[in-house]
Amino acid sequence: MSKSIIILGIESSCDDTAAAVIKDGKLLANVVANQEIHRQYGGVVPELASRAHQQNIIPVVDSAIRKSGILKENISAVAFTRGPGLMGSLLVGTSFAKAFAMGLNVPLIEVNHMQAHILAHFIGEESGIKNQESRINSQQPTTNNKQPSFPFLCLTVSGGHTQIVLVKDYFDMTVLGETIDDAAGEAFDKAAKIMLLPYPGGPLIDKYAATGNPLKFKFTKPQIPELNFSFSGLKTGFMNFINNETAKNPNFVSENLHDICASIQHTIIEILMSKLKKAAFQTNINHIAIAGGVSANSGLRNALKQTETELGWKTFIPDFQFCTDNAAMIAITGYFKFMKNDFVSQSTAPLARYSL
Ligand code: KG4
Ligand code: ZN
Repeated sequence: MSKSIIILGIESSCDDTAAAVIKDGKLLANVVANQEIHRQYGGVVPELASRAHQQNIIPVVDSAIRKSGILKENISAVAFTRGPGLMGSLLVGTSFAKAFAMGLNVPLIEVNHMQAHILAHFIGEESGIKNQESRINSQQPTTNNKQPSFPFLCLTVSGGHTQIVLVKDYFDMTVLGETIDDAAGEAFDKAAKIMLLPYPGGPLIDKYAATGNPLKFKFTKPQIPELNFSFSGLKTGFMNFINNETAKNPNFVSENLHDICASIQHTIIEILMSKLKKAAFQTNINHIAIAGGVSANSGLRNALKQTETELGWKTFIPDFQFCTDNAAMIAITGYFKFMKNDFVSQSTAPLARYSL
């Protein structure tokens, strides 16, 4: 029997410090430490994020290794997020990964965070992952229904990115369209901030929207060519709307919170879904996935699911724990790179901007 491949994944691109252990493609431990410190500032403060990463990284890695039940001496390689992200945050994870790999005398694997969000779809049960492993070697289509088969489209929606990606293979991805200004997650967070809700506002808008009327308030949608997105006009329109209504009734937000949240969420989802439908039509691909923090949004998940009956799409929606930033997605990407002997040297530096 061949030796097991054990990958330690480390993620520190923004405000979550995360570590995960994957053995032969199977997830053994997935630990995330969120940074509460940013709440009081209404957004991520880069310097505070990197300091918190420094405090969290050792306990988080230690906890992931303990939970996985493996011995650190048996780790085959260390995978880390190289970018894109906040430079100070990336530096902590990168430096730690390098030192840890050097200490264990194992290879180092660099991972693109946006690619990892998409490859999170391949973190699965042991049998599913084994399928992927054999696929990488034999180039045969996957037979696992829970995981997308190539080619598929992925709408990657996070706090920093909004992209429609054509995924031809694990490491063959083309961005078909992206935001020209704010990301979808930013649109959620900024709308929440305008309503004086704490950061990050996306999950709160999702929660209040559940019992609101999505058609109560109308917001102007952007007219952007091709498959690109824009959310900054929506943010300004929303701010003007809230300011005008609050001038008339100071309690407008609290009295209409659920309807406002449902309406702004509905608008963001319509913007995303209309471009996704356009991309599916243009490429003639109907295997459609979503990824990134905003893919945790229940309205978006429902809208995507509906296309199965409406348009005959086959849709792929990640488990909640793999939507927002996590290290399991870094470890699975590292695992696939390990299979290709795709390693980097100790001189590898993080990249704040890192395209797919
Ligand atoms: O992928 P992620 O964890 O970090 C980045 O790489 O940016 O995404 C974070 C973003 C934040 O903007 C957050 O508000 C949003 O994802 N988010 C949500 C939900 N959960 C997280 N937005 C809407 N509804 C949610 N349930
Ligand atoms: Zn992310």
